[in-house]
Amino acid sequence: MLTRDEMLSHLKVRRPIAAPSMLKCDFGNLRREIELLDSAEASLLHLDVMDGHFVPNLSYGPMVIKRLRPLTNTPFDAHLMISEPARYLDEYVNAGCEAITFHLEAMPEPASLLREIRRRGVVAGLAINPGTPFSVAEPFLKECDLFLVMSVNPGFGGQKFIPDVVTKIRDARSLAGDDLIISVDGGIGRSTIAQCAQAGCDIFVAGSSVFDEPCYTAAIAELQQIANGTRSGC
Ligand code: DX5
Ligand code: ZN
Repeated sequence: MLTRDEMLSHLKVRRPIAAPSMLKCDFGNLRREIELLDSAEASLLHLDVMDGHFVPNLSYGPMVIKRLRPLTNTPFDAHLMISEPARYLDEYVNAGCEAITFHLEAMPEPASLLREIRRRGVVAGLAINPGTPFSVAEPFLKECDLFLVMSVNPGFGGQKFIPDVVTKIRDARSLAGDDLIISVDGGIGRSTIAQCAQAGCDIFVAGSSVFDEPCYTAAIAELQQIANGTRSGC
């Protein structure tokens, strides 16, 4: 497992990163899915945790993540779409997540939890929904290592990208500079990734655009090439 400093430099060195969202994978064969993502050289696995309360869907929690941890050295970013994230922090730290991202809408005063995540040696992330203005998150960016801009309303994979959120990526980058890791999640694919990259995004969470493709290696490589400008999108 990477320490917080190691994780931060891993993310910065590897960017742009297409991070497969483990919501769209084959849950009947998680070991095989992880092997395929390892051979595709995925730099980060995005783990979508949903509690059926903060979002109208259920996925998996720390017990599953803990079982996945020994299967790969690829770092984990847990995206907690849950109410009361502070209450469950220890479980996600102990499950072996190198980054933990929770929602501002679940915790409108997030500074203490962001500090607590950092204190545990984990990269601290804050996510905002499409309907939440950037100005609400702005005062907390200095406490964040990672800022996750949702480009769909959280809860389900396979939704359509909401282009209005791109200005939040641009605003966060110009305000926070190069040190902040910025991630975008929802509807990311060959036709939407370039505009996010141009706005200054580092991590592109990709569910359908990886798992609906026959070859994960080609899908991840192609997304990263479009993001770094060595290939054109569509
Ligand atoms: C949505 C999740 C996403 C989602 C992405 O609530 O946070 O990570 O699985 O899936 P796609 O890429 O299909 O929109
Ligand atoms: Zn997610």
